[in-house]
Amino acid sequence: MPSNPIVHVAGARPNFPKLAPVVAALDQSGVAQRLLHTGQHYDERLSGVFFRELGLPEPDANLGVGSGSHAYQTAAMMTALEDDFLSTPPRAVVVYGDVNSTVAAALVAAKLHIPIAHVEAGLRSGDRAMPEEINRIVTDSIADVLLTTSSDADANLVAEGVAPERIHLVGNTMIDTLLRLRPQFDRGAAARLGADGAYVVATLHRPSNVDDPERASTLVSALHGIAEVATVVIPLHPRGGARLREAGLAEHPRVIATDPLGYLEFMGLVEGSAAVVTDSGGIQEETTVLGVPCFTLRSTTERPVTITHGTNRLSAIQTVVAEVAEAVAAGRPADWPVPELWDGQAGPRVAERLLATL
Ligand code: UD1
Repeated sequence: MPSNPIVHVAGARPNFPKLAPVVAALDQSGVAQRLLHTGQHYDERLSGVFFRELGLPEPDANLGVGSGSHAYQTAAMMTALEDDFLSTPPRAVVVYGDVNSTVAAALVAAKLHIPIAHVEAGLRSGDRAMPEEINRIVTDSIADVLLTTSSDADANLVAEGVAPERIHLVGNTMIDTLLRLRPQFDRGAAARLGADGAYVVATLHRPSNVDDPERASTLVSALHGIAEVATVVIPLHPRGGARLREAGLAEHPRVIATDPLGYLEFMGLVEGSAAVVTDSGGIQEETTVLGVPCFTLRSTTERPVTITHGTNRLSAIQTVVAEVAEAVAAGRPADWPVPELWDGQAGPRVAERLLATL
């Protein structure tokens, strides 16, 4: 039924910059689209500000699911999505990344026999203790069209038995958003927050880093060590922010802890930084394109291309202070590679593939 809409499902902050270029590119073709927000992220600073700054249309529906355990949240999303898909049957469902909203929508669509496209398919950390890894594996195993950001993802999918004709290397739609909005980055953010001179941006929100008070306290000691070398600006995600504060995060005079920032503010801050310390997935990719040294406080990454073709490296609490100090002293690299097809044109490639296949 060609007049049925292509339905995009998103719900959490990292979905929004990946989705915007696909919606914009499909708009050009005049195809009917709907945008469903599951409500996984509901704070203005994790959701509303992104819709405005990215120029996303208001969602056609917000399912208002909110927070809860993984089972509760995923189940509530599935129930609400099933109602929506039954009342307005999609021509296809497009899901993004690896959050609970992604896997919930894919499961519902699969059982209603609706074709599924997964943007950012094939990434694997190999660490099944990460909820996102489970979401990636399940989503890819039931998606019909697997749109990848890098050739390592293609190889992962082939190794899992996915037929090569279902895999399409399209590049990175999140980087489309970055390149489009770069002229508008808020370059006054650092000064407004009180950072002068060389500064380091930190973001930490993974359960493996912030859920355990002992681990959080060791992380805070490392951030204080980095603050001896450069001011540390750390926008706090609601998950774990309180734990990091309880561990004494803000007690160092050169640590600036803030609420979550909007897209333009945060990207302006990162673009002007001497280095980034993070456990985020997306920031590993954004720093790669911006040429900012990135130290990922994890033992694995699902984005190895940011190490082989970018400025990212895996780091440990024991070594991160010395590594960041070295990077700050060395200054930003003059030249660095950028992965293939991270060129600002991934959205149109996704749209073309969706229209050809679904
Ligand atoms: C989710 C994603 C993660 C992504 C992150 C980016 C999953 C499994 N994880 O993690 O991959 O990197 O988003 O932000 O989907 N909360 C608020 N306000 C909100 C939303 C959440 O205060 O608008 C708080 C609640 O206490 C909630 C906690 O944050 O329980 C965790 O939220 P949740 O959506 O479950 O996971 P994130 O940690 O945000």
